[in-house]
Formats: sequence, structure tokens, C-alpha cells
Amino acid sequence: MKKYTLITGACGGLGRSFVKMCAKNKENLILTGTSEKKLEKLVTDFKEEFKDIDVKTLVLDLGKMEDRKNVISFVKENKLDVSRLINNAGVIIEGDTLKFSDEEILNAVEVNCIGTLDLTQKFLKAREDKSQKFEVLTVASVASSYPIPHMAVYAATKSFLVSMMTALSEEVKKDNVVVTTVCPGGMATSQAMKESIKSMGLGGKLSCTDTDKVAKIALKALSRKKKNVVTGGFNKFLVVLSKPFSKAFLAKSTGKIWKKSQDKRNF
Ligand SMILES: NC(=O)c1ccc[n+]([C@@H]2O[C@H](COP(=O)([O-])OP(=O)(O)OC[C@H]3O[C@@H](n4cnc5c(N)ncnc54)[C@H](OP(=O)(O)O)[C@@H]3O)[C@@H](O)[C@H]2O)c1
Repeated sequence: MKKYTLITGACGGLGRSFVKMCAKNKENLILTGTSEKKLEKLVTDFKEEFKDIDVKTLVLDLGKMEDRKNVISFVKENKLDVSRLINNAGVIIEGDTLKFSDEEILNAVEVNCIGTLDLTQKFLKAREDKSQKFEVLTVASVASSYPIPHMAVYAATKSFLVSMMTALSEEVKKDNVVVTTVCPGGMATSQAMKESIKSMGLGGKLSCTDTDKVAKIALKALSRKKKNVVTGGFNKFLVVLSKPFSKAFLAKSTGKIWKKSQDKRNF
């Protein structure tokens, strides 16, 4: 039976790099995203790369329980043997916590935390043959290491992911499941991200990593069964730097840096 890799948020900046890398490795793919149109464009854009592999597409809004259930039904009905799940989709939400609407906060938590955990759990529960390896790769962020005022919701959702996935990796390793979490720093995947990185000056520049490089590092860490990987020397330094300090001190420091960055962008 052919094996498949399922990628969430496949049409996004880092998602496309995962698609490229997995197609290069000749992995069959299930590409998911929120829009049928974007998925069609993705398949057209990667026509050459997809020549020798089987590629399926599926609309998945991670914030919807029905869509998450539907993924498992789709896989079962089509008798697809998924051996790798790449939890790449995420909502990048920036701003003061009290300025968000209920819907904005719920959406970020539902997509980044609940949806990602629920989809992962559904796949792990649906496994029948535990002698076959199953791999889970989850995209968190360097932001997971810091409480970040003015970007608190996003940073907290990524902290949840690191904690959850690292603990889960220990629970399921006996069942031949590898769980790896990758923490990238900045990636210039949208105009807003480009401006945000630029406003951080040298720190932003040093933290920024090309999406192809992030995907490569993440997949390598997964193949080596690493629980966590941080991309780039400067980002590794930022994570280590956060360790000895209290959360209160870190919040005070990152809050000042973030406010300065937002003022430069007239955010
Ligand atoms: N850019 C950065 O600086 C940075 C830094 C650290 C970590 N990250 C993380 O890296 C991952 C990829 O981000 P990116 O930079 O490539 O951003 P991106 O281009 O905006 O991609 C984000 C992806 O998430 C998907 N998504 C959003 N809401 C969704 C929902 N309700 N259901 C399913 N999918 C949804 C989008 O899917 P559609 O396109 O189909 O709507 C999109 O493909 C995210 O988890 C992000 O948090 C980013």
C-alpha cells in the first residue's frame, strides 16, 4: 500500500516548502487548506514536481470539528495509508489582547491548539498497524519560549503546542510514533511578516530563516527522531537566553521590544 504525507496549510509560505521537499522525496501527498481554489493553484504550480507521485487535495478548516472528522473519513474511504502528518497550519495573530474580538481569539486557539491537537489525536487513534512507523511534525515558533505582550495570544498558542507535542511524543513512542516540534524564528511569508521582521532591525534579520531551509531542518530532525528543533543559531540563542529568567521579567523585556517594533510599523 502506498504511503502518504498529509500537510495542513499546504498553500501557505512554509507549507509550500514542505510540499516541495516531500515531493522531492517522492512522498505521496494529501494537501489540505481552507480554499479549494488555492489548492487547485498549488497543484498547477507544482505540476512538474508532482509527476511521479500521487497527490490528493482536501479542504480542511482546522477550526471546524466537522472538517477534522471529515479528514479521517476521507482517508478511510479512499484507503490511504497516511504515515506522516505535518501540522503546519497556523493563525498568526498580533495585537493587544483586549482589542481582539471573541471570534478572533477563539479562531486562533481553535486552529493553533485545539484543531492541531484534535487532528493529531484522531490520526493516532485511527492507526491499526502499530508496527508501522507514524510521524508527526508540528510547526510551533521561537515565540513559544517567551510571553510576548502585544502578541500574547499567538505566543501562548505556540507554547501550548510545544508543551503538548513534547509530552505526547513520550506517551506514544512505545507505539512506534515519532513526534517532532519545530520552532522557527521569523519567516518572510507575507507582507506583514516582512514588515515585522524589518522593524526588529538586526534581531529580526538574524532570526529570519528561509522557508525551504526551515522545512529541510524540520524534516531532518523528524527523521532523526528529535523531539524539538529550533531553526538557526540566533533563534537557538534566543531560546537558551529565555531559560534562566522569570516569565515576568521576560514579558517586561519582550513587551518593550514588541511595542517599539509596532510603533515603527504604525501598527
Ligand atoms: N512567518 C513567520 O514568521 C512564522 C514564524 C514562526 C512560526 N510560524 C508558523 O509557521 C506556520 C506557517 O506559517 P507561514 O509563515 O507559512 O504563514 P502563512 O503563509 O500565512 O500560512 C499559514 C497557513 O495556515 C493555514 N490556515 C490558516 N487558518 C487556517 C484554518 N482555519 N484551517 C486550516 N488552515 C489554516 C493557511 O491556509 P490557507 O492558505 O489554505 O488559508 C495557510 O496556508 C504557522 O504555523 C505559523 O504560526 C510562522
